[in-house]
Amino acid sequence: MTSVLILNGPNLNLLGTRQPEVYGTTTLADIEARCKKHAEAIGTEVEFFQSNHEGVLVDSIHAARGTHDGIILNAGAYTHTSIALMDALASVELPAIELHLSNVHAREDFRHRSYIAKVALGIICGFGADGYLLAMDAMKQHLSG
Ligand code: DQA
Repeated sequence: MTSVLILNGPNLNLLGTRQPEVYGTTTLADIEARCKKHAEAIGTEVEFFQSNHEGVLVDSIHAARGTHDGIILNAGAYTHTSIALMDALASVELPAIELHLSNVHAREDFRHRSYIAKVALGIICGFGADGYLLAMDAMKQHLSG
């Protein structure tokens, strides 16, 4: 069975109360539950993790090598700043999908730049919490294709 790591970066632990007009009212725990249910439906194993710390996210990407077949990453604001996360993804050579709840391209200019995109298979953004399930389907398709 394919196994996917869904990794969430800074401030995503506050989903549900954080700027609901931008990110919706679904909590990260709700998203995790939806992902686990969807994983069962599509026959994938899933590990779900969140950290506010860049180094912890780097460690988590390293630990995915040999454990998971792909990574879905909502790196939050680190998307736009972190060469370390980009290098970590490039180093482990696992397929990665960049994910955002909001449509970052319809927002401030500083959100248009992504270091993650340079090493990602593709990007899903703007579909709110549903984006996590879309990313799982895309990863499953990629891994079985
Ligand atoms: C985000 C978009 C980022 O620009 C922002 O810093 C976040 C959340 C999203 O899911 O829409 O923290 O990754």
